[in-house]
Amino acid sequence: MGPILGDRRLFSTLRYEIYANHAGISPPSRPVVQALTDVGEDYAARAFAAWPTYNDQRTSLRQRLARMLCVDSEDLGFTSNTTQGVIDIALSVAWKPGDRVVVFAGEFPANVTPWQSAAKTFSLELEMLSLEPFARSAQEGLDALERALSKGVRLVAVSAVQFQTGLRMPLEAMAALVHRYGGELFVDAVQACGIIPLNLRALAVDYLACGSHKWLMGTEGAGFVYVHPDKIAKLVPRVAGWLSHEEPVRFLLEGAGHLRYDRPIRARTDFIEGGNLPTPSLAALEASVKLLEDLTIDRIFAHTTQYLDALEPQLTALGFHSMRSTDRDLQSGSLCLRPPQHISLEALHRGLLREHIATAMPDGFLRISPHWPNAMREVPTLVQAVRDVMRTLESAP
Ligand SMILES: Cc1ncc(COP(=O)(O)O)c(C=O)c1O
Repeated sequence: MGPILGDRRLFSTLRYEIYANHAGISPPSRPVVQALTDVGEDYAARAFAAWPTYNDQRTSLRQRLARMLCVDSEDLGFTSNTTQGVIDIALSVAWKPGDRVVVFAGEFPANVTPWQSAAKTFSLELEMLSLEPFARSAQEGLDALERALSKGVRLVAVSAVQFQTGLRMPLEAMAALVHRYGGELFVDAVQACGIIPLNLRALAVDYLACGSHKWLMGTEGAGFVYVHPDKIAKLVPRVAGWLSHEEPVRFLLEGAGHLRYDRPIRARTDFIEGGNLPTPSLAALEASVKLLEDLTIDRIFAHTTQYLDALEPQLTALGFHSMRSTDRDLQSGSLCLRPPQHISLEALHRGLLREHIATAMPDGFLRISPHWPNAMREVPTLVQAVRDVMRTLESAP
């Protein structure tokens, strides 16, 4: 059975009436679970002989992801999660002491900590800007960013979509602005990739990192990095390992005389693949990406937009304050809301879980993040559950 928008049959064991936390961790579909099982069984049977199969499988996954992001597969490298991708780039930029890096307050820490470490290691200047101007309007955000860039910039690090508010950042305009000031744009895309159509070539971002267990609907343990082809030769491969060299496995497969330590490090993004990769998670990711390809990201995003369009006004009518932008270009797959002041978010979240409804509560917001299996008919159920939980909380002594 192929995937159908709004149809949960590929998630037959999911124990929630409504699962709306794809921005947290997605449930693996049956094909994803099958891929994990198949890898395990294959290694159980063939061990070392299975390795080439999954090495080839990664080639096809790389091509699928490249198609999804409108880039060349050569510009992608695999890693274990988003954070590792941020670390790989933060360690590999050819920094000069005093280089300025701009990050944002309100970002998920995965896109701050590695820059803080890089700042200490390489004597960089780190500036933290507020996201609030961007929440007011793209133009206000860009103006604030430009004021920071005018003091000099080497790199700006931002998430494509903010985890806490669901705000989609104006990446194309940000990249253009950062480039005008001679800097580079790094994007954490884990809250966007798999739900929002992304054309990296058009956006002109320089570096991007993403993990697979959220909107790509794979499992934990896999991720990837994109490096713009013009930037790869300028990186210092500080994270290189034994598999980062050209012809790294000859000494294992072709007899004597091939063990060398001087083969060049590949001038390709996959230089970050320094050791063996998370094979089961990458196979799982490919199984999920095939489903996304079948459905297309455009159709999936239209589907979740319709879901959130129906949900948002009904929750604001209950007193919630929506953080969703009114600018369509700044909307994402997440609807984030502040609950009414007299309602405890933790209690609301717990109450919804008791009703078998999974949401998230990142630092003060109720986050609702449906994906392709969520059906429109869930919307009235979700609203009624919120209403019921609120009523219980209001009547509690
Ligand atoms: C924007 C953002 N970046 C990074 C992460 C963490 O990703 P990973 O665990 O793949 O490093 C999250 C959430 O977990 C996130 O929301």
